[in-house]
Amino acid sequence: MSASAALLNIKKIRQELAHQRIGRRVDYHESTTSTNDIAWHEVEKGSADGFVVFAEHQSSGRGRLGRTWVMPKAAGVLASVVICEGRSGRKTAALGLIAAVAVCDAVAAGGSVAATIKWPNDILVGGRKIGGILIEAKPQPGGGQVAVLGIGINCLQHRGHFCGDLAASATSLDIESDRPVDRTAVAIRLFKELDRWIGQSPDDAGKSLRAAWRSRSSMLGERIRVRQDGVIFSGSVIDIDPTSALLIQLDEGGVRAFSAADTTVVRADADGC
Ligand code: BTN
Repeated sequence: MSASAALLNIKKIRQELAHQRIGRRVDYHESTTSTNDIAWHEVEKGSADGFVVFAEHQSSGRGRLGRTWVMPKAAGVLASVVICEGRSGRKTAALGLIAAVAVCDAVAAGGSVAATIKWPNDILVGGRKIGGILIEAKPQPGGGQVAVLGIGINCLQHRGHFCGDLAASATSLDIESDRPVDRTAVAIRLFKELDRWIGQSPDDAGKSLRAAWRSRSSMLGERIRVRQDGVIFSGSVIDIDPTSALLIQLDEGGVRAFSAADTTVVRADADGC
């Protein structure tokens, strides 16, 4: 990545997404606090469903669990999308599964690499994190909810861009791929995949979505340790349930469901991821 890295081709992105629910309106900022902030601002104005915002740089990018999300300017895909669902529409868990599968496939296509999902919605290549998803949701007065899905994908960083703990745990498409990385193509693929899944009725998509998530999961069958309410549990991952809770066959016996809202992965016993 050079100091004069090319900016996203936002005109091309707008053309490619114009006829979809997701991306029919696309906003773009060279710098902002967080694309999720811009998306929520749009929600306040009304009629924001499908609104997508990209930024080249964020001054206060946020990650899950109160973490920050930092990326050099023009190094990746930083984007948020607004999804409004009615009373019988998709809940946050289903949106998380959809986003994880869509990001996973956009990463895989963008670098011709094998990408996997680490529960709940980290995207890995070679066991290192390349993409993350932050979902913020608010219930609506008449039922249903509005959700902002914030997505970050590392594209052009070199090894030296990842400091501290990230040096061992993070990667980018440029590091992993043996061909030039086109951020615009990654962004288009991401929102085409997202639109394809969102376009299916929740009932139709439910089974195939879970199968898609399972086939991309880096954790099924793996030994794992998780923390829930301060208590550590060990066991083997056997599945996810429709609410996106991780199902673990516990060493102490029995199967227990762990929800992303109150559980963190401590470490996988066997593979160190
Ligand atoms: C995580 O893995 O912790 C989630 C990271 C999500 C980062 C993206 S970048 C675009 C959007 N805006 C933000 O402030 N966060 C998300």
